[in-house]
Amino acid sequence: MKQSLTTLLMLFVVLAAAAPLAVAANPAGVPADQSLYTRLGGYDALVAVTKDFIGRLATDPSLGKFFIGLNDISKARVESHVIDFLCVATGGPCIYTGQDMKTAHTGLHITDADWNASAAHLTETLNKFKVPQKEQAEVMTAISGLKGDIVGR
Ligand code: HEM
Repeated sequence: MKQSLTTLLMLFVVLAAAAPLAVAANPAGVPADQSLYTRLGGYDALVAVTKDFIGRLATDPSLGKFFIGLNDISKARVESHVIDFLCVATGGPCIYTGQDMKTAHTGLHITDADWNASAAHLTETLNKFKVPQKEQAEVMTAISGLKGDIVGR
């Protein structure tokens, strides 16, 4: 009996220690005064969200054309730049070394319809990771401020 109680206690300690490492967008209980980055779940959550979002864009029948010219190394570079960009944009401790948004998207001729389809994918991603409405609205506000640099270039 004592043995099994000890085992149970050890299991509890191991699980409790592992819990904060779980990738969860906006883990419950993060105070509202924390940065959006922290409330979204930090770096690992941002990586998971960005990969899912870019995966949706690249496989969308009408948006996939934008990514056709990128080889695997270029795709990996774009992905890590988007992660760092979003990290900085949400108040995280990252450094962004990529191009500014105007330069990165000039020549792609992204339309309003492309933008709206992308925003819908982002919402699906945020829902998948169970990001609460308050944080979703903040992400969308941050993103919509970039539209002028990304669309119609
Ligand atoms: C949600 C707002 C968006 C953000 C924050 C964003 C961010 C970025 C970043 C950080 C890069 C990498 C720049 C670099 O590597 O120096 C990039 C590149 C790129 N973005 Fe976006 N982007 C957004 C929307 C879009 C949309 C709507 C599309 C098209 C559907 C798109 C297509 C691309 C493509 C194709 C590249 C690669 C350009 C290249 O390296 O040739 N982006 N974006």
